[in-house]
Amino acid sequence: MIGSRRTFLHAAAAAPALILARGREAGAFAGAVGRIGGLVRLDSNENAAGPCPAALDAIAQATRLSHVYPFRYGGALEAAIAKRQGVSTSNVLVGCGSSEILLNAVLAFTDARRGLLAPLPTFEEPARRARQLQRPVQEVPVRSDLQVDLDAMARLVPDAGLIFLCNPNNPTSVALPLDQVRAFAAEALKRNPDVVILLDEAYIEYADGGGVASALPFALETPRVVVSRTFSKMYGMAGLRVGYAMGQLDTLQRLAAWSLPMSVNTVGLHAAIASLGDTALESRERARNAEVRAFTVRRLEAAGARVPVSHANFVMADIGRDVNGFRSACAARGIAVGRSFPSLSTHARISIGTMPEMEEACSVFADVLKA
Ligand SMILES: Cc1ncc(COP(=O)(O)O)c(C=O)c1O
Repeated sequence: MIGSRRTFLHAAAAAPALILARGREAGAFAGAVGRIGGLVRLDSNENAAGPCPAALDAIAQATRLSHVYPFRYGGALEAAIAKRQGVSTSNVLVGCGSSEILLNAVLAFTDARRGLLAPLPTFEEPARRARQLQRPVQEVPVRSDLQVDLDAMARLVPDAGLIFLCNPNNPTSVALPLDQVRAFAAEALKRNPDVVILLDEAYIEYADGGGVASALPFALETPRVVVSRTFSKMYGMAGLRVGYAMGQLDTLQRLAAWSLPMSVNTVGLHAAIASLGDTALESRERARNAEVRAFTVRRLEAAGARVPVSHANFVMADIGRDVNGFRSACAARGIAVGRSFPSLSTHARISIGTMPEMEEACSVFADVLKA
């Protein structure tokens, strides 16, 4: 645990009582988030199924603890994550969403000489932060099949302080098999004795075969690889801002040096712990997402789009026309889809909502693509 002993003792005493007292409800997910601003929001890869019932119950309970600083419970979340992941609490660092982990990685592992190396497009926050800090940014366009170009990235490794590799990648939705990630990471560590690799696994729980799997075991083996995860996607808690990093203690301490004090709030912390207690959540949500995603892909392909295999809760459809026009036409009919991304001007990133939302959205997509 990257916290104080005091934190852990409070946590051990207090958190289980809250969880045992509540969180009994079982059953299906609590239902759709619904329209926000009059639009079905398929533009930010949120999970429309929302938090699981145990988390909703914990949220209701924990709002009464809003006067309590989260440090009193902080160790409990790290312990729950460690238990689920089969690691020690010293291998876990929590953050205000995984965004905090990503931003702190740029602060910790880049400098004016050794910057950020990342694919393009990918989740843009690390590059945004690096530019803001005037750290060098090297971006390597993805290949025509949307896969990250690992060979081209490997050539640039000697100049990097931090390599950001998002797997599955947002916004492309495709993923690299674990053996390729491991081979790339091993090569990168050889080419540059100081570089740190951040493997962003925000969507890894949705991985759908093809050898795609978490690189966590690798992160535990070497001090120069960190994995980040989030409760925002699979766990449906984007609004509560809970994420975490896993890796070796020394590496996490370099990240933690930049953390905000108590960056995970009391409500989010209890909701995350309760979610982890729902051991069927991941298989249930993976199946729900896979069913709705398969429906969406069938409908998009029937409308003429090409959709690469997605390992996430969104798809990246090549609609064969400028995405901005498509986006405005869909918005005019109540459906918000993702913005355009660098070099992929004919691709629309479409998050997977609930089945009723996707039925409505797919009718709109078909009409717009027919026009
Ligand atoms: C790949 C990836 N990483 C990290 C994040 C940040 O997520 P959060 O800060 O909600 O954990 C996102 C958000 O969409 C993402 O797509």
